[in-house]
Amino acid sequence: MSVRAFRGEILSVPHDPLTRPDAVRHEPDGLLVVEDGVIVARGPYGDLAPRYADVPVETLPGLIVPGFIDAHVHYPQMDRIASHGEQLLDWLDRHIFPAEKAFADRAHADAVAGLFLDELLRNGTTSALVFPTVHAASVDALFEAALARNMRIISGKVLMDLGPEGLADTPDSARAESEALIARWRGKGRLGYAVTPRFALTSSDAQLQVAGRLLADHPDVLLHTHLAENERECAEVAARFPDAADYLDAYDRFGLVGARSVFAHGVHLSDRACTRMHDSGAGIAVCPTSNLFLGSGFFDFGQAARHGLTLGLGTDVGAGTSFSMLHTAGVAYQAGLMRGHRLDPFRALYLATAGSAALLHIGDRVGGLMPGQEADFVVLDCAATPLLARRTAGADLVERLFALQILGDDRAIADTYIMGERTGRT
Ligand code: GUN
Ligand code: ZN
Repeated sequence: MSVRAFRGEILSVPHDPLTRPDAVRHEPDGLLVVEDGVIVARGPYGDLAPRYADVPVETLPGLIVPGFIDAHVHYPQMDRIASHGEQLLDWLDRHIFPAEKAFADRAHADAVAGLFLDELLRNGTTSALVFPTVHAASVDALFEAALARNMRIISGKVLMDLGPEGLADTPDSARAESEALIARWRGKGRLGYAVTPRFALTSSDAQLQVAGRLLADHPDVLLHTHLAENERECAEVAARFPDAADYLDAYDRFGLVGARSVFAHGVHLSDRACTRMHDSGAGIAVCPTSNLFLGSGFFDFGQAARHGLTLGLGTDVGAGTSFSMLHTAGVAYQAGLMRGHRLDPFRALYLATAGSAALLHIGDRVGGLMPGQEADFVVLDCAATPLLARRTAGADLVERLFALQILGDDRAIADTYIMGERTGRT
């Protein structure tokens, strides 16, 4: 049994500040006691230190916050980040589908999966819901790399029988390969599985039905897909599903809308869809840098708040322009303003941590830095750049946090810890 303690300024937002006045937890001089990777105590140093007098204490300079949780990101798109010139559907055809074809090669998938997870850690991201490719081996590559790093990663083979040549599976192969992957990876390390139809336009009705069946047969898995992201996409979905009330309804008809459903984007949602989403318990991974990069629009935080939607935050790399969840939170604030909403810095931190955790159904394990949860955390350096140092000097907590979101990125991640172990980020 190993017990260790970390002393420093600790901040987490385990609950949504929109609905809970007691959402923010902050100890200016706190102690985090970790036993076998799990937090057993947290509180003011002065209160806890006498009880843990025998435990070795490491003092961490900086702001200790929960490891970030990226609620939507594509690992095979890492090398296509910053691809110029197109909106969603043309961008997929021109830049993304050719790159994803290369993941038929297991050695390529292994190499990129390792680099991708190291980049997450460099940015303070310790958990993520990840799109791989249509190839089952791309999931094996990611899960093996995640297991080696003891990261909490959720993923699942992409279903896309209407995809281009070289990336198209079939309803039958989708079912068989998904079943085999679930059987192979269930219960291993900190991994989780998500049934992952790419989006409504790349799966036949027969394959969407397969996805619904997989979900019904495996109540522990998530549903992960894209929803109402880009205007042309929405128009094509409306044309393909003329009887559906809206984009969400197209998924609903196949049993894909439920409490374990994670929809990326949701930029263009009807009030009906929001009501249905709330009633079903489904939620949205908000991806502001991606929405800006592809000209998709601005997420409507006000509409989501009115409907009480469950939200998390995603980078959506490679349409997203940064792996940094700090930067993504800062862009979420700016996107919110475009539709009249002022995202509070504590709520932005919540979305990047406990909010994403709740969305991914791992909120009992991570995201809040609370006793009973796993000790995934990062140490933020408010003086990581001369400008940050100047802007945060003498500033109060909320100002420092907002400055980190607007000015910060991977440079502000002093250290990343997985279950109490320093990852030695490079
Ligand atoms: N919709 C379907 N596939 C994708 C993708 O790879 N990225 C984004 N941003 N949207 C999608
Ligand atoms: Zn995406």
